[in-house]
Amino acid sequence: MAEKLRLGIAGLGTVGTGVVRIVQRHAALIAERTGRAVEITAVSARTRDKERGVRLNAYAWEDDPTALALRPDVDVFVELMGGSDGPAKAATEAAIAAGKDVVTANKAMLALHGQQLAETAEKNGAVIRFEAAVAGGIPVVKALTEGLAANEMARVMGVMNGTCNFILTEMQNTGRSYDEVFREAAELGYLEADPTLDVGGIDAGHKLALLSAIAFGTQVDFGAVELEGIEKITIEDIEQAADMGYRIKLLGVAQMTGRGLEQRMSPCLVPATSPLGQLEAATNMVVLEGDSVGQIVLRGAGAGEGPTASAVMADVVDLARGIRVPTFGRPAQGLTKPTPARSSVPAPYYMRIELQDKPGALARIATVLGDAGISIDRMRQYGHVDPTAPVLIVTHKTSRSALNDAIAAMPATGVLASDPVAIRIEEV
Ligand code: HSE
Repeated sequence: MAEKLRLGIAGLGTVGTGVVRIVQRHAALIAERTGRAVEITAVSARTRDKERGVRLNAYAWEDDPTALALRPDVDVFVELMGGSDGPAKAATEAAIAAGKDVVTANKAMLALHGQQLAETAEKNGAVIRFEAAVAGGIPVVKALTEGLAANEMARVMGVMNGTCNFILTEMQNTGRSYDEVFREAAELGYLEADPTLDVGGIDAGHKLALLSAIAFGTQVDFGAVELEGIEKITIEDIEQAADMGYRIKLLGVAQMTGRGLEQRMSPCLVPATSPLGQLEAATNMVVLEGDSVGQIVLRGAGAGEGPTASAVMADVVDLARGIRVPTFGRPAQGLTKPTPARSSVPAPYYMRIELQDKPGALARIATVLGDAGISIDRMRQYGHVDPTAPVLIVTHKTSRSALNDAIAAMPATGVLASDPVAIRIEEV
């Protein structure tokens, strides 16, 4: 049997302890599959004296994750601390500077510093693998870098934040408000310490930026992701969109357009009957479209101990087998700087407009849309709630800028009862 592969694990939270459990439970299985023993030699966490439900006494302890990364008996630094900067980044930099491979679940660190880290790793003959950083247990990084490696990718889409999907589907299924379901998500422990990371679309945006880099061979550019969270989604939008045959999802879409790379993470309507429309609770789904393969759909748990640790171990197993894929699937020096394109692909839009219930109100709104070159596909008016009349409009395909022009012109009509809501309808 080849020499053993020795892991140093920094971070013993849910994912870290999950990794320890898999290594302990499946030592024989992993050795059979890789031809090498995979062992943990040292661990590190913020607090040493904490009951974690796993045996750690056989491993050396380091208070400092950088010291852990640099130990001579650590071959692979497994970074499961999180945080875009600080100790996670310092220890990762130390590991790759020493030529050690890194396996991480840290989407924020890679979304913000991925290019620099990948270049440094490459210079030092190391690789950084991050299957666990995107969509938890779904092997989407592997699907893109390996399974679809011979495709020119057309589009990458996904629901990649389970918390948001839980909130939206609970609202849909129970008719409760955003605030009520948000509180339930907090009680269930679904929310990140900073909930804006979830409901503001940032966590999912990090994941989309990482997939874009692999899919389109571009330097990871989180700053160019158009971000919009789910905080403003109302139960009225969910119910009325459902009435028109749609579901609202926090959907990430990345595609290379004639004007550059479009990356959006925002609430979108998708057909209720589509796989994305049917995605319930905290589950994730990623849809990949390549020129040869067509469309493939991957679905599974996007968070949690078992699924995320499973993804971490997939990377460890690759390294044990000697599979060394560059960080973003091609040499970091070859990744191009993307030109960001903001919502350049036209789409139909759903609009909810509260009108004052008076003669000619609807006609004035239709005129504003017509003046902006926007054609109406379908329209529905609901029972009047004196003195307003809620109107739903589904447009034909239009550009976001034409829609913005129309929305900007609407207040001057004098018939609006509140700000119009506009949500893109994604063709999936
Ligand atoms: N908070 C994330 C989610 C999991 O709800 O999907 C970690 O990225």
